[in-house]
Amino acid sequence: MTTPAHVAIIMDGNGRWAKARGLPRVAGHRAGVEALRQTVRAAGEMGINWLTVYAFSSENWSRPKSEVSDLMGLLKLFIRRDLAELHRNGVRVRVIGERENLAPDIRALLEEAEDLTRSNRSLNLVIAFNYGSRDEIARAARNMAMAVKSGQIDADSITAESFAGFLDTAGIPDPDLIIRTSGELRLSNFLLWQAAYAELVFLPCYWPDFGRADLAEALRSFASRERRFGGVIASDIAL
Ligand code: FPP
Repeated sequence: MTTPAHVAIIMDGNGRWAKARGLPRVAGHRAGVEALRQTVRAAGEMGINWLTVYAFSSENWSRPKSEVSDLMGLLKLFIRRDLAELHRNGVRVRVIGERENLAPDIRALLEEAEDLTRSNRSLNLVIAFNYGSRDEIARAARNMAMAVKSGQIDADSITAESFAGFLDTAGIPDPDLIIRTSGELRLSNFLLWQAAYAELVFLPCYWPDFGRADLAEALRSFASRERRFGGVIASDIAL
């Protein structure tokens, strides 16, 4: 069975999971962090090299202040509590998204996680935090324009590959498989450039209920797909 090298997940449905149980939304996010822990473990065991998770989008700031602060708190807790274990297990943490406008303590924690785990090689965990594709692409375009202006690069030489080098995901392979839980059928500003040839799997379960079996199901679905990357498969050329 072909295992995708890079799996990216839109962890959706925490709020609905909590509502269905008569719990506050933050309880859903807490349960979501637990599902994330299990998924990181399972992904490593299943031979996935890269796992990207959408933890906070640039649009999530429009949620009530208390929920934004709950999500910030959970990120801090996740890094403080889990960083040592992630490091012990050889996980390399990388963070994508806009950082300049984050609170200094959050930025410091994100940098600490990246610095500590920089030479780890077992699983790459990419946390998309304060991330939105359009923002990422606009920042990349701005930085590339500055490089042109200062004479570092020539505008005529710009290619899709060289542009990708200005994205937050520079050096990270494109996702092979994107999973979204909770039954919603959209990408919500997640990895729009990078998803060009990704296979998409939408699962009905809410994120806190996502487990090893769901990941295995998504991998099976991936393995059954025929990926052509805009070309044709060899056996069809002869026909
Ligand atoms: C979507 O559920 C989920 C999020 C906006 C945040 C995802 C966050 C976690 C899994 C926990 C935080 C993890 C870290 C590392 C910070 P939703 O709230 O949109 O659910 P709903 O659509 O049912 O309301």
